Amino acid sequence: MIGRSRTARSWAPTAVSGKNGAMKRTVTLNNGAELPLVGFGTWQLRDAAAYDAVRHALDVGYRHLDTATMYGNEAEIGRAVADSGVDRDELFVTTKCPPDRLGQEDETLQRSLRDLRLDHVDLWLVHWPPHGEHGSVRMWERFLVARERGRATAVGVSNYSPELIDELVSATGAGPAIDQIPWSPADHDPKLVEDLRERGVVLEGYSPFKRTDLDAPALAEVAAAHGVTPAQVVLRWHLDHGFVVIPKSVTPSRIEANFEVTGFSLTPDELAAVDALGHRRG
Ligand SMILES: NC(=O)c1ccc[n+]([C@@H]2O[C@H](COP(=O)([O-])OP(=O)(O)OC[C@H]3O[C@@H](n4cnc5c(N)ncnc54)[C@H](OP(=O)(O)O)[C@@H]3O)[C@@H](O)[C@H]2O)c1
Repeated sequence: MIGRSRTARSWAPTAVSGKNGAMKRTVTLNNGAELPLVGFGTWQLRDAAAYDAVRHALDVGYRHLDTATMYGNEAEIGRAVADSGVDRDELFVTTKCPPDRLGQEDETLQRSLRDLRLDHVDLWLVHWPPHGEHGSVRMWERFLVARERGRATAVGVSNYSPELIDELVSATGAGPAIDQIPWSPADHDPKLVEDLRERGVVLEGYSPFKRTDLDAPALAEVAAAHGVTPAQVVLRWHLDHGFVVIPKSVTPSRIEANFEVTGFSLTPDELAAVDALGHRRG
């Protein structure tokens, strides 16, 4: 249990063997589960566009899907998963509980499971820290109950600082598997990376493209060296650091390109050049 100390094991990406091994780079969570480093983000995908995009992502080989109660697309995702024929055991599905569902966590998860057509999610996240005295801890306690009941195999948080994570750990003895936070080369912050790593919390980045200037010369240079696009360099930068990344696209060619990031790797100098885009490097 990572709540016991700061000496909880640090995380590092591992490659999974198998015929698609190279495409299935994963990181091991604090419950022992393997999370594919590249997932498919679904914010702002609604209705038929959500269904079509998720079907295409699954066809292309994504096995990690990221949604949330707030996205209003769990039913479309559930339908796409059911129609895809992909085995449940091969899939990693994350959803999130809005902070204003404090006190209604069980019903919220129940509804997510119904819409997703699943009997459990692989990861359930607190979408943002709930307000109010002890709100964050009270919600976290319900998350731990959901994990105990097997409705969420792993539990985590989103948009939390290391200090807020420490509050959860001191109150309950159990820390999150994941902190899903805004992340991109421009956000690179080695201290935050270390703070999460030493707590055994995997860093999952969101909005990798929205937060990046894809015209940055440093990205163009690395992209040209490998014959890939700047967007692919951004994703590969995440993988080479062991950060989880969940790009969203509604465009079939981009859904494909965003998954095709295993055929190259950044050299240490290239990694440092992309790190240097960070405003908070230190
Ligand atoms: N926990 C949280 O609070 C939180 C907050 C935000 C996001 N998220 C999660 O993180 C996921 C990703 O973040 P996001 O959706 O905000 O942003 P994103 O993935 O950084 O960017 C999506 C945008 O980039 C475009 N795009 C996709 N692939 C591209 C490529 N190869 N080249 C150039 N442009 C490309 C997309 O356009 P098209 O779709 O038109 O192709 C879309 O406009 C979300 O979908 C959601 O699952 C979580």
